[in-house]
Amino acid sequence: MNQKIAVLDFGSQYTQVIARRIRECSVYSEIMPFNTKATELKKQGVAGIILSGGPASVLAKGSPRPDPKIFDMGVPVLGICYGLQVMGKVLGGEVVSSKHREYGSGELSFKGESRLLKGLSSPIKVWNSHGDKIEKLPAGFKAVGTTENSKYALIEDRKRNFFGMQFHPEVVHTPQGMEIIRNFLFDICKCTADWTMSAYAERMIEDIRKTVGDKKVILGLSGGVDSSVVAVLVHKAIGDNLTCVFVDNGLLRKNERQNVEKMFKENFKMRMKTVRAEKQFLTALKGITDPERKRKTIGRVFIEVFDKAVKSIGDVDFLAQGTIYPDVIESMAIAGNPASVIKSHHNVGGLPKKMKLKLLEPLRELFKDEVRQLGTELGLSKEVLWRHPFPGPGLGVRQLGAINKKDLDILREADAILTEEMYANDIYYKVWQAFAVFLPVKTVGVMGDERTYDNVIALRIVESIDAMTADWAHVPHEILSKISTRIINEVKGVNRVCLDISSKPPATIEWE
Ligand code: XMP
Repeated sequence: MNQKIAVLDFGSQYTQVIARRIRECSVYSEIMPFNTKATELKKQGVAGIILSGGPASVLAKGSPRPDPKIFDMGVPVLGICYGLQVMGKVLGGEVVSSKHREYGSGELSFKGESRLLKGLSSPIKVWNSHGDKIEKLPAGFKAVGTTENSKYALIEDRKRNFFGMQFHPEVVHTPQGMEIIRNFLFDICKCTADWTMSAYAERMIEDIRKTVGDKKVILGLSGGVDSSVVAVLVHKAIGDNLTCVFVDNGLLRKNERQNVEKMFKENFKMRMKTVRAEKQFLTALKGITDPERKRKTIGRVFIEVFDKAVKSIGDVDFLAQGTIYPDVIESMAIAGNPASVIKSHHNVGGLPKKMKLKLLEPLRELFKDEVRQLGTELGLSKEVLWRHPFPGPGLGVRQLGAINKKDLDILREADAILTEEMYANDIYYKVWQAFAVFLPVKTVGVMGDERTYDNVIALRIVESIDAMTADWAHVPHEILSKISTRIINEVKGVNRVCLDISSKPPATIEWE
């Protein structure tokens, strides 16, 4: 069995990042509730404990505390930010509210030797975000690093192997943070770097088996990266007790339903229920032009259709979802800041409340690249794992204006040609997204001797790292020319193709 580092979660948005950094060092880590009992940690044989940061103040009544017995276990403990303060408090130190909130970049100067700082030389850049600070150290501790506003920015009890830091070693803004984490894992906790994604997959499969038992699970399969990986993972764990529900909302790309069915039903031999709900969606969308109303309508009908499908399967206890860590963060941001709702995405939390199903979200702790790595382990193809993102409302937000089947079909054909050429010219995997948009205008053209009055297709091809910002991709003109010629020649109803050359911001990637 791999050694395990327990990350006790005090609610920081960086908790998952800590776990990820540990995985990057090929050591297994598990995020556990902040109050996990020492007896439980002992039973699990943890090699070290990390206390995460968190939004609370240790000075506030009822703020979260760890089981004090974790400090008697004889295993190294590393407290980060709130984790440092709570450790200081529990072990008899004094914490005060700081006059100067430290937030952002700072400099840590070393004071003497510390095994945590092995291989580093003073000073190093660190990232702070905290309001409280330790005023009086608990017995046995001494300061080994200071910042401008904090004489106890890095403290340690060398004998007991307890360490605390005001700054966040896990974020990229602490450029040498990985060294500190590495020193903690290998030098202090004596871990060996033997954890792999395949071992993680095995563990997840075991966990899913334990959680689900012989109960039934359903999964809304979209064919995207996350839901595909969850589908294969859960299927490996419980086989036919998983039913995947695929909703054809009539807003899918060309052959999408057939491709998904082929892969999951035929290849992976999963139980899969396809709901053909095109009519229902298109009827509900009739006449709606406002993008937000379109999204909301699509989201609402999806829930209705999905709910009905689940009822028809009967006796289901769990809903598996492909929620990944960035979704969790995004929905947290949205919950805390109404201004951040620019578009109403419905990836997280839309379904289950009403449906009374228990949630199974095995990818919740993983970042996208880790999900892809896991998918590779599970035998999913590059085509699935490196597909471009496709929005939940699908072509519904790419056929601008009111939706109708005829124009959707035109869009599907144009989009398929664009995608085909992206693959054929070796560009598909080099860009973030490439898709066609149907514009709600008609323009004049001439074909043979005839005047045409037909539709316009826009090509949107962007490069991006995280979809937060994007730039239009500089695709060679010959290729653009071929795409345009093919679309105009092969797709009846299109006589003009335009290229979108706007970056995000100020434009968005999608047109609606
Ligand atoms: P924008 O258009 O906001 O898109 O620049 C950023 C990324 O999000 C995708 N997107 C969506 N995904 N539901 C989704 O699941 C949506 O309503 C939605 N709107 C945009 C978009 O394709 C891009 O990758």
